[in-house]
Amino acid sequence: MIICKAKDYTDMSRKAANIISAQVIMKPNCVLGLATGSSPMGTYKQLIDWFKKGDLDFSKVSSVNLDEYRGLAPEHEQSYRYFMNTNFFDHINIDKSRTHVPDGLASDVEKFCRDYDKLIEEVGGVDLQLLGLGRNGHIGFNEPSDVFARDTHCVDLTPSTIEANKRFFESEEDVPRQALTMGIRNIMMAKKILVVVSGEDKAEALKEAIYGPITPQLPCSVLQLHPDVVIIADEAALSKM
Ligand code: F6R
Repeated sequence: MIICKAKDYTDMSRKAANIISAQVIMKPNCVLGLATGSSPMGTYKQLIDWFKKGDLDFSKVSSVNLDEYRGLAPEHEQSYRYFMNTNFFDHINIDKSRTHVPDGLASDVEKFCRDYDKLIEEVGGVDLQLLGLGRNGHIGFNEPSDVFARDTHCVDLTPSTIEANKRFFESEEDVPRQALTMGIRNIMMAKKILVVVSGEDKAEALKEAIYGPITPQLPCSVLQLHPDVVIIADEAALSKM
C-alpha cells in the first residue's frame, strides 16, 4: 500500500488525475472503475482540463461505476448516472455506450446484480478502481456490517451515510434509503485501486483503515489485503496518523 500525502484537495485531485492519466495512456482501452461524491470531483475536473488540452484520449476507455441510489432514474439530478454525465462523461470523448452505472430503477434487483457482476467480467475486469471513503469507512456503499458482501447487491444505507449525503438533497427525507453497490469482491478484483481522501471528517476512518484490524465493521480496512493500492490523502485526512 502506498500512502501519498497531498497538501490539500487540489493537490490530491491532481495527483489522482496523474495516476488515471498514466493508466489511460499506457492502456488506451482500459476499464476504469469510477466513484461519485465530493472526493473524486476535482480529479474529474483535472482530467477534463488535460483532455481539453489534447493530452488525453478516452475514446477506447470503458467504465463501470461502483454504485447508484435505488429508486432514482438516470435523469434525476441526484442520481449517480447524472453525476457521472455532468461531472465527467459529457466533457470528454468517452463512448457513453461503454460507460456503466448500476440501474437504480431495476425491477428485478437480484437479476440486475448478477448481470452487473457478469458485465464487469465481460468488459475484462477493472484495471483501475477509483474509490472515495465514507466517514464510517464504507467503500462503494458497502456499509459497516458483520460480513463482507461479496458481489453487487442492494444495501440499506446507514443513518450516518444518509446524514452525510443529505447535503446533496433538499431534505434528509429525500435521500434514498437503499442503493445498489458493487461488493467487496468486485472491488478487490480490480488490478489497481486508487483511493482519494480529503478532510478531517475522514481522518479516523483512514487511520483505522491503514492501521486497524481488517473487519467488515470498517469495510475499507479490507484494502490492506490488496496488492496494489495507492491512497492519496490531504493533510487534514492524515491528521490522525
Ligand atoms: C460514491 C461512493 C461512496 C463515496 C463515499 C465518500 O460512488 O461509492 O463510497 O465515495 O461516500 O463520499 P464523498 O466523496 O462525497 O465524501
